[in-house]
Amino acid sequence: MLDVFIDAGPATPVTPLSAGALSAWIETASPGHAAWAKAQGFKAKAGETLALPNAGPNAGPNAEGAIERILFGLGDESDPFVYGSLAGKLQPGDYVFDPTPEDASVALLGFALGTYAFNRYKSGSKDDAPKVRMVVPTGVDCQDVSRIVRGIFLGRDLINTPAADMGPAELEAAAEKLHHRFDARLSVITGDDLLRDNYPMVHAVGRASDRAPRLIDLTWGRNDAPKITLVGKGVCFDTGGLNLKPGNFMALMKKDMGGAAAALGLAQMIMERGLDVRLRVLIGAVENSVAGNAFRPSDILQSRKGLTVEIGNTDAEGRLVLGDALAEADTETPELLIDFATLTGAARVALGPELPPFFTKDDALAAELEDAATTAHDPVWRLPLWAPYDSWLDSKIADVNHISDGPFAGCITAALFLNRFVTETTSYVHFDIYGWNAKPRPGRPVGGDIQAVRALYHLLTKRYG
Ligand code: BES
Ligand code: MN
Ligand code: ZN
Repeated sequence: MLDVFIDAGPATPVTPLSAGALSAWIETASPGHAAWAKAQGFKAKAGETLALPNAGPNAGPNAEGAIERILFGLGDESDPFVYGSLAGKLQPGDYVFDPTPEDASVALLGFALGTYAFNRYKSGSKDDAPKVRMVVPTGVDCQDVSRIVRGIFLGRDLINTPAADMGPAELEAAAEKLHHRFDARLSVITGDDLLRDNYPMVHAVGRASDRAPRLIDLTWGRNDAPKITLVGKGVCFDTGGLNLKPGNFMALMKKDMGGAAAALGLAQMIMERGLDVRLRVLIGAVENSVAGNAFRPSDILQSRKGLTVEIGNTDAEGRLVLGDALAEADTETPELLIDFATLTGAARVALGPELPPFFTKDDALAAELEDAATTAHDPVWRLPLWAPYDSWLDSKIADVNHISDGPFAGCITAALFLNRFVTETTSYVHFDIYGWNAKPRPGRPVGGDIQAVRALYHLLTKRYG
């Protein structure tokens, strides 16, 4: 259980109130509390809090221990993560919901996600003890909530860590940690060994960095369980390569390993839960750098799949790394193949940073995913693998080009390119995630985040739990 949760004990009650329920509450509250709420102008707006004093309307809640109850506004109840702002608004101490919110697990999840802080680089006291704790409401599976939150926090930490401290080797170390903790099997192919073992595109993208590229391959679970494979884009920093990004586009590119972070976060949830699956995680961990040996626009790369790939722009590096990893994943024809990647700016143009698109040919999987995303309050949106655009990837001198030469439908052509490397697996889905909260929202502070993972965890536990 997370250390922000407690089983019981003396705790200040927190009353969640929607704006619509406020007047009914005032009717039944003690005259002192009702008068206090009115006098303070409490409207139960989303995230609004009010401390109710225990000594009547004239005594303010200033003395230590003088607070009898906290009112917490839910607004119009449209945001299930409204509870994400609670921890930041409470004084240090222990609290208990009274009454228990309708969807208590979501409330607890939101509360816990709102306690995230990335303070690795903050000097001063490193006191990690939580300041605000919440009693777990009865009927909530707090182990499962804790497991989800730990997975999300792992993903956030990996993304938030600057590239100088989160290169291919450190990404490998993160996988190594899981390998030890869960008694998994790990194999890592590094540097020029990628050529020997036929991962030519991973090598080409990563070879210009002083920090050697690698293919990280983690497997876990009994061998004859259903095979679930997660593939993650682990571009630890994306300068764009020789097609160098302008400064403002490069600024956030420590997050270009967000796909790998999502894969590792979800893998941790799956292994902690002990789902009966044979899990495999494949990560292409590279840094897309500039040097004399960098791959170039117009180069033609060999690929693991055997296709020759013409390079149009070295900034479209993620799909190359994924192509080799997906080709390997495909050789096992897993029951479900999932990839996560901060792949295109075009996905953000299409749907914005808060709604990641996914691409699959499997209609049943798409429906299952949409259902899981709704239940888990982790929205995703299906975009088409529009077959007529596939010819936009034709190359005059190679088997395929990795980009189209026009400005249109960039996230679709990227997804179509990936699909060239998955020919045997019928249930394959690609997520083009942003991996970052640009604006703070309850439970989602500015910084790294791993989208679509909670939706997938829900889907997987439903299937294999
Ligand atoms: N990592 C970027 C995509 C990206 C940029 C994701 C910003 C999220 C936020 C990717 O490697 C990239 O640079 N893609 C190019 C492809 C283009 C050159 C065809 C893009 O989307 O502009
Ligand atoms: Mn790029
Ligand atoms: Zn990239």
